[in-house]
Amino acid sequence: MASSIRTPHPREKRIIFKNIDRPGWTNDVGCYLHDGGYEELKKAFTMKPEQIVNEVKASGLRGRGGAGFPCGVKWGFIRPGGTKPVYLICNADESEPGTFKDRYIIHQDPHQLLEGMIISCYAVNARLAYIYIRGEFPEGAKILERALAEAKEHGFLGKNILGSGFDLEIYVFRGAGAYICGEETGLIESMEGKRPYPRIKPPYFPAALGLYLCPTIVNNVETLCNVKHIVRIGGAEYAKMGKPNNTGTRLLCVSGDVQKPGYYEFEVGGITIGELINDICGGMKPGRTLKALIPGGSSAKVMSATDRYKIKTKQPDGTIVETEMGLEDIPIDFDTLAAAGSMAGSGGVIVMDDTRDMVWALNNINEFYAHESCGQCTPCREGSLWMKKITERMLHGGGVEQDTDTLKSVADNIAGRTICAFGEACAWPTQSFVAKFRDEFVATAHKKGDGNGSTNS
Ligand SMILES: Cc1cc2nc3c(=O)[nH]c(=O)nc-3n(C[C@H](O)[C@H](O)[C@H](O)COP(=O)(O)O)c2cc1C
Ligand code: SF4
Repeated sequence: MASSIRTPHPREKRIIFKNIDRPGWTNDVGCYLHDGGYEELKKAFTMKPEQIVNEVKASGLRGRGGAGFPCGVKWGFIRPGGTKPVYLICNADESEPGTFKDRYIIHQDPHQLLEGMIISCYAVNARLAYIYIRGEFPEGAKILERALAEAKEHGFLGKNILGSGFDLEIYVFRGAGAYICGEETGLIESMEGKRPYPRIKPPYFPAALGLYLCPTIVNNVETLCNVKHIVRIGGAEYAKMGKPNNTGTRLLCVSGDVQKPGYYEFEVGGITIGELINDICGGMKPGRTLKALIPGGSSAKVMSATDRYKIKTKQPDGTIVETEMGLEDIPIDFDTLAAAGSMAGSGGVIVMDDTRDMVWALNNINEFYAHESCGQCTPCREGSLWMKKITERMLHGGGVEQDTDTLKSVADNIAGRTICAFGEACAWPTQSFVAKFRDEFVATAHKKGDGNGSTNS
């Protein structure tokens, strides 16, 4: 992956991305050690595993892979002293459209990830761990293999790591390039050599019945990197970054119609959508205005720039306060985006300007989900294809009066009726695009001809 050096914006708070684009920085172990690397691992070995779990709980760290589930709570599901082996899997599938943060960590700072993983394995007593990396990242896999060999040479992996008595091996597992392998139980099936059909939860929550039906922690790359920093500064100090229940920093990947798309790191909730677009990303392209935004990868519900959002927030005294705000005033954090009807998801922010045709945009997303459905459940397998066929037909002038309502009805009959959250991931775009831009859908359905549907230059 070619990487041009980017200077961090002064408003960024770079912790996970501290070494990304750092002048003189190389991704080998020598550079990492010179910069104080693996010191947190040494510190972790002076702590008891449960102390680390408690620090992670105190930090309030929420998973960065999409669902925002509290990391310490997940780790707490592992019963100490269980008879089965515990596995840890780093989810480096990074397949959510609009998301491109994990690959930069892997390429430029692989030892940060390894250190975070080794500490996490020690905390949950996993003696075997895997990095599940998507098939399309061959270079990333190579870099990780080299970093693992370096870590082993320096005694950070293998038997009796740094004299701690703790043994650990980590292996790279390469996927074959299917979106559904990012879903943790599909990923596990794939690792077991099977077709990656997601498993039903309950009972197959990985922390209880994961890889080879053993307790398994699956965490995202960014989540695991955070663990190193929690050990460094302590959970309470970490929790001071961001906002209550939305702590730490967040990597944001901005794509679409802004002048400076790219990756950034901010305190969670430390920046609003308007500030991100206008102050950080150089504003919209000349002469264009903001029309819509998807805040957390293509699965997140689209938000319209003309809507007013009624956001309910819980105050420290427990009371609920409702505030009305425009799209640009919304701070980017888990709870506020959820209260606004969307989600922070994977951190992939997709910006669309006033030239974007919403039917075209939704069709683009629908094509992806129709292609990626694993086909295991009927509503998702059939519905994702129907939604794509309808938006495609509308774009080519073959729309009929009922299309807008049919789209909504198909999406409504997928969400909540499937084995895995892919059902929601493919239904939410259609539900939200149709709800927010209904007039455009109705107009396109009435348009006849051979239009390709795109007004984009
Ligand atoms: C369809 C689908 C795709 C997903 N893709 C990814 C992915 O590429 N990377 C990722 O970390 N999590 C992905 N997830 C979320 C994982 O299932 C899981 O929740 C996550 O890896 C847990 O890590 P975290 O708690 O650190 O976020 C996906 C979920 C679904 C439903
Ligand atoms: S919801 Fe879709 S992707 Fe998930 S198991 Fe069902 S068919 Fe497969």
